[in-house]
Amino acid sequence: MPAISSSAPGKVILCGEHAVVYGMPAIALPVFQVSTTTKIFAKPQSSDGEVHVIAPAISLDTILVTLEDQDPLKIAARLVMQEFHLDHIPACEIHIQTTLPIAAGLGSSASTAVSFTRALSTFLGHPLPDNTINRIAYEVEKHHHGSPSGIDNSVIAYETPVYYQKDRPIETLKIASPFTLVIADSGIKSSTAQAVAGVRHRWEQNRQQYEDWFYEIGQISIDVREYLENGMIEKVGPHLTHNHVLLQKIGVSNSELDNLVEAALTAGALGAKLSGGGLGGNMIALVSNEQTSTVVDALISHGAIHTITTTIPASGGIGHLR
Ligand code: PMV
Repeated sequence: MPAISSSAPGKVILCGEHAVVYGMPAIALPVFQVSTTTKIFAKPQSSDGEVHVIAPAISLDTILVTLEDQDPLKIAARLVMQEFHLDHIPACEIHIQTTLPIAAGLGSSASTAVSFTRALSTFLGHPLPDNTINRIAYEVEKHHHGSPSGIDNSVIAYETPVYYQKDRPIETLKIASPFTLVIADSGIKSSTAQAVAGVRHRWEQNRQQYEDWFYEIGQISIDVREYLENGMIEKVGPHLTHNHVLLQKIGVSNSELDNLVEAALTAGALGAKLSGGGLGGNMIALVSNEQTSTVVDALISHGAIHTITTTIPASGGIGHLR
């Protein structure tokens, strides 16, 4: 029997991370140069009837039922089975392969949840619709870091730029003119859960100040949205750099990320900031076509272990996704 196969992209947060956890808007973009693919091979002749899961990136090679109940893959499998009113999955082998760096702010956990959920639902009958995939991936994300805003699973499940605000309909974003980002990996693994918990702790100590910063970050997302929708890319850059300064203030940058941001700006980037949870992981630089290779070289010579250059194409209309 041919394998069922399903892929999901990675993502970057253009602006608004962390503040989005506190109800402010943020903008996220899918990144198709990296992806997670789940392949499922039916084993109808299997004598033990087991579901074998193999995910080399997280050193997993095991039988699904032996995973802890709170394991993200087990949660996803349980929720998919509920959708189909099933109490077990027929014997199969599930291979999960990813080109996304783990714990680097590119959405590896959400990408895995989306690709796994899509592949498993196809294997069990038919692919679930994007909004159901998104809901399941959000449940899985909750077990990764307690209070996720839901932005990662949304941009990855719908594979389109999103303007995201918690408890509001997810909005697609019109991109009037294409723009290019260089994404650079600091090489430092960081836990989004810890970064989010650190911000929460400091917010509890100093609510008014943090809420002012969150509000300021939210205003950046509102402005950036308007610029993207009107093709005013040159205005986006300074807002991204200002967003980085605010992320420094809320305590989620570090010297490596600051150096990379500085290096990108010195090399002529239009704007630069850390992206995602921070304290490591990736940063992004908005570049014009002429600057791209100079910025890439500067980032590598200032310690980035890897870069991805991605162009976000002009895209469709504004609409609601649920
Ligand atoms: O998964 P990461 O590291 O890209 O971070 C997600 C963005 C945060 O705003 C920090 C957390 C969230 O749930 O929105």
